[in-house]
Amino acid sequence: MLEEVVSIEFNREIGKDTFLMGFRSPLLASCANPGQFLMIHSGRETRDPLLRRPFSIHGIQDKNTLMILYKIVGKGTSLLSALKEGDAISLIGPLGNGFTFPRPTERTLLVAGGMGIAPLFFLAQALKKAHKHEITMFLGFPTSQEVVMTDQLKDLNVDLSLTTEDGSLGMKGLVSDLLDQHLSQELTKKPVIYACGPTPMLKKIAQKAITCNLTCYVCLEVYMACGLGICQGCAVKAANSKGKSYHSVCQDGPVFSAETIDWEVM
Ligand SMILES: Cc1cc2nc3c(=O)[nH]c(=O)nc-3n(C[C@H](O)[C@H](O)[C@H](O)COP(=O)(O)OP(=O)(O)OC[C@H]3O[C@@H](n4cnc5c(N)ncnc54)[C@H](O)[C@@H]3O)c2cc1C
Ligand code: FES
Repeated sequence: MLEEVVSIEFNREIGKDTFLMGFRSPLLASCANPGQFLMIHSGRETRDPLLRRPFSIHGIQDKNTLMILYKIVGKGTSLLSALKEGDAISLIGPLGNGFTFPRPTERTLLVAGGMGIAPLFFLAQALKKAHKHEITMFLGFPTSQEVVMTDQLKDLNVDLSLTTEDGSLGMKGLVSDLLDQHLSQELTKKPVIYACGPTPMLKKIAQKAITCNLTCYVCLEVYMACGLGICQGCAVKAANSKGKSYHSVCQDGPVFSAETIDWEVM
């Protein structure tokens, strides 16, 4: 784990309130894995807001540049969006466990809701590089204005299907509806599912996967104050009463096998 102040190479709006930021860090780029995250602070001197914010590593460009993809939802992300090329940000990472890769022969299904695409794009990039995996991806956004990264996913040769809640692009509905449809047609070829997005979406997907006896990994995005295992603010209830009662998402996760989480209380 490193603590670094890095220089921003680009920070551009690529969708409604959605920004792609790149910053140079050869050290981090050499050791970051898909599913891991960074705790980022937007100001070196001001400490406003006080706490760092967690962001998934979204990809690596030209071996030395790391990217994050983020949506403005509050003060921290709003301050990040105002930063320009050459400005500095402070970060700690890479943190968390990251995804377990599927075997090269396994069918791989990625399901992303909104900014859940951030870590799953990195996973798709890494899987294509490692084994040229066949990847199917379901992507859901509220409206067409929020849709991002589809061209880059097509360039990676990912078989992509899209949903929007208002039907302005792709199928109308939720991305979990698309998964339900797919599984009802193709359950003979069992995929390994990787999902990231809002908790209600993950709950639906995890419960479906458990019912269908499919391997499913979820990347949780809960509130985090420290990201380092100190504050206990990121605890989620574990499913197995024989093991530990709670998982610390920042330390044990953020990626979990679906059946290890108690979804009833999520
Ligand atoms: C491991 C991890 C990886 C993440 N990766 C990304 C990413 O790649 N891209 C991205 O855009 N976001 C990501 N997030 C969420 C991101 O950390 C929050 O959006 C960010 O901290 C909000 O900061 P803020 O100061 O702008 O908003 P705040 O002022 O803190 O909050 C504004 C609003 O957003 C809601 N909110 C804040 N944090 C979360 C959260 N973690 N989950 C659900 N709702 C929240 C609050 O309830 C509030 O309504 C990730 C979170 C975790 C834990
Ligand atoms: S965020 Fe503090 S312990 Fe996980």
